[in-house]
Amino acid sequence: DKSGYKHFMAKEIWEQPTVLADALSAYLDGDDIVLPEGLDFSETDRVTMVACGTAYFACLTAKYWFETIAGLPVETDVASEFRYREPPIPDRSTALFVSQSGETADTLAALRYCRGKADRILSVVNVAESSIARESDIALPIHAGVEIGVASTKAFTCQLNVLYLLALKAASDRGRMTSEELATALAELRALPGVFNAALDRDASVAEAARAMAEARDVLFLGRGLMYPLAHEGALKLKEISYIHAEAYASGELKHGPIALIDKAVPVVVMAPNDHLFDKTVSNMQEVMARGGQVLLITDATGAEAAGEDVWRTVILPEVSPRLTPLLYALPAQLLAYHAAIAKGTDVDQPRNLAKSVTVE
Ligand code: F6R
Repeated sequence: DKSGYKHFMAKEIWEQPTVLADALSAYLDGDDIVLPEGLDFSETDRVTMVACGTAYFACLTAKYWFETIAGLPVETDVASEFRYREPPIPDRSTALFVSQSGETADTLAALRYCRGKADRILSVVNVAESSIARESDIALPIHAGVEIGVASTKAFTCQLNVLYLLALKAASDRGRMTSEELATALAELRALPGVFNAALDRDASVAEAARAMAEARDVLFLGRGLMYPLAHEGALKLKEISYIHAEAYASGELKHGPIALIDKAVPVVVMAPNDHLFDKTVSNMQEVMARGGQVLLITDATGAEAAGEDVWRTVILPEVSPRLTPLLYALPAQLLAYHAAIAKGTDVDQPRNLAKSVTVE
């Protein structure tokens, strides 16, 4: 049932405020994060996170959170590479697998590889009755509800939600965060569904940019810090459903090669909230504009003002705590892909060549 929306993907994008609020409440009791008994990170020296596709970009985001907030080193890899490399798993390691379906063949094989090598196996899944959940020591449901659109949307934000809670838990277990700081972080997270609504209200400006971009053959996505994994997710979403070739780069990598691609025909999506890395990203953006590149800047009001007039188009999101920007900026990334696909007339819910659950390698 599409609840009046034209596509499941649209429904799943627009229900994210409600879905996130419910998903969050399943893990919170006042100012406590409710997690299964024994899930503690004080004896952990390293986390290995493995997944495919969108779930992998959730892991990459979590790496920034775990390392910065909890001081806990994280290795991330795509499952198809991890499983055949015979990666050594150091002592006091936790292995963590993220999968919406819980049935992805490569992710399951990577999990089985870690059995007996890692101290414990965690998974973050949407389908609680799945193989990956069953074979984990602890399976954490993301509570996104059934996701039907092949392109993952609400599962991504709900994966991020659980991974962020785990990073906060790790930070408090490891004495990196006081209970007051934790309470503040949880209050910000509780306010996020409301901020999601405000972000979805910017839909018209995203749709307009998407229509203008729909004729492009190639699109680049740039981001730094927490926006770097999200740039990848934005590029993946766009290629999956609109079939426009899109690539993501860390903003700082631009001058190491990809800047050669820039001309008037290549729109560049820059995701840059006004955080401590903003000025650096803006200077990368100016390098793009100086070469005729058309920049779509996704930022907040302060960022839009600082970026100046020469930007091709700007989408202005509400300001949130810098740590929460991956969840918030996922929404315009999803909307951009959705509207570009609509403009191109592609099959949004069933993109060609793709399956919702990839049970063969
Ligand atoms: C992208 C997408 C895929 C999946 C990937 C992993 O929109 O849906 O990239 O994220 O196939 O699937 P799960 O999470 O089921 O393991």
